[in-house]
Amino acid sequence: MGSEPLAAANDVVATGRVGAPTTVPSVGTSGGSGLPRNSASEVFDSVLRDGPELFKGDREILRETYIPSRLPHREHQIRQVAEILAPALKGNVPSNLLIYGKIGTGKTAVVAQVRADVQRRGDLARKLTFIAVNCGNVETPYSLMQTIGNTFATKEADRIPTGWSLDRVQAAMRDLMDVKGGIVLLILDEIDRLVARSGDGVLYTLCQVNTELDKARLVIIGISNDLKFTNNLDARVRSRLNEEKILFPPYDATQLQDILRDRASDVFRDGVVDAGVIERCAAYAALENGDARRALALLRLAAEMAERDRSKRITSDHVVKAKSRLEQDIIVECCRTLPPHCKVLMYAILQAFERRREGVQTGDVYDGYTRLAQRLGLQPLHARSISNYLSELENLGLIRATIVSRGRGGRTREIVVDVPVSETFPALLDDPLLAALARPRSLNQTILTNFDNPGRTGP
Ligand SMILES: Nc1ncnc2c1ncn2[C@@H]1O[C@H](COP(=O)(O)OP(=O)(O)OP(=O)(O)O)[C@@H](O)[C@H]1O
Ligand SMILES: [Mg+2]
Repeated sequence: MGSEPLAAANDVVATGRVGAPTTVPSVGTSGGSGLPRNSASEVFDSVLRDGPELFKGDREILRETYIPSRLPHREHQIRQVAEILAPALKGNVPSNLLIYGKIGTGKTAVVAQVRADVQRRGDLARKLTFIAVNCGNVETPYSLMQTIGNTFATKEADRIPTGWSLDRVQAAMRDLMDVKGGIVLLILDEIDRLVARSGDGVLYTLCQVNTELDKARLVIIGISNDLKFTNNLDARVRSRLNEEKILFPPYDATQLQDILRDRASDVFRDGVVDAGVIERCAAYAALENGDARRALALLRLAAEMAERDRSKRITSDHVVKAKSRLEQDIIVECCRTLPPHCKVLMYAILQAFERRREGVQTGDVYDGYTRLAQRLGLQPLHARSISNYLSELENLGLIRATIVSRGRGGRTREIVVDVPVSETFPALLDDPLLAALARPRSLNQTILTNFDNPGRTGP
């Protein structure tokens, strides 16, 4: 071993990132390195000894944030977008464009690639201004117009601050655009989220801003995975946005295989990906609406699983493990985004389910929820709202409810949990509102609860 890798290994321990004391307990030394050994240094030693067997390229290539230079099976869409935007290169104003397609169908990637191609055109591109906004990160119409305007601010004093009236921001945005002039291509990615959050007022403003501009012209490129989002738009906004429309179809399994192979050849060493691995990742993702993001995530996770197993190859087994990990992650993420009372309800369901795995009755769930809500100082919701939340949890695939016949006692709904219980508890407890449930109860509460639920000790 050379001196550099050894220093790096020591650094990790010294920074305390593994929770270890700054001096490593001396339990013997590893081979000829003279380094003290503990289980962490054994891991580091073996990683360094084995070397990066699987990867030959930067593993970031498999991450969502990586922008690939090739987009197999999107040549047609790239051409369509380029044809629609091409007039801009000659100073003519292109039509507004709306791009639709389900998640992971390459919409953002295609637009990013066309934009990069335009920007490579030097002088011609200098007359154009691209502004890319992810509407998921835009809170208000104000901040959208502020962002557009500030793109053109060349000095601090020109920037639009916060706190102005909307009319004033709008006027300042127009003035700033007109100072530079030329064609402004505004990419509104996830445009449906902007409309869901703020209505279509700001789109109306943007669609008719050209009538008030002297030297600049605004073109909107909207991207949405909600195919129906224009249904609720003002008719004028709808027709302006829809001047050109491109639909991105989902990828099928063979197309996903091509996409994965293309990336795999850049990132993995030759021969480390077993036959069937790419096919399996593609097949799983094809079932999930043809989502390329999902396919890539599966391949990346499968490689990580293989590394953790110290395997020199990525096998189909690793893909199967990766799939179940990914599903768990998605479920846990889904739990994190539930509204607060729904989280408390889910927590009550998990508790009840732990006691009675064959299915819990809604009455018990409601009692459990009420107790937890009171413990957290919340006003419990009425049974009707809880029933709605139960349906929501069922729609999300977190629970399953079945009607069970109870002879002369009538029929009742029984609930089983469809998620890994041990991973879901911490996801719910991550919410500061529920965090108190993780702390030990006061003595009285413990006695009461255990009296209510003999044998129960809490998660
Ligand atoms: N044809 C393709 N070739 C290579 N990679 C692709 C292709 N299509 C999509 N990808 C990759 O898949 C991931 C998802 O693509 P992208 O973000 O463009 O999807 P999207 O349609 O914008 O999805 P969403 O609606 O969820 O925003 C990205 O990492 C992207 O690089
Ligand atoms: Mg996107």
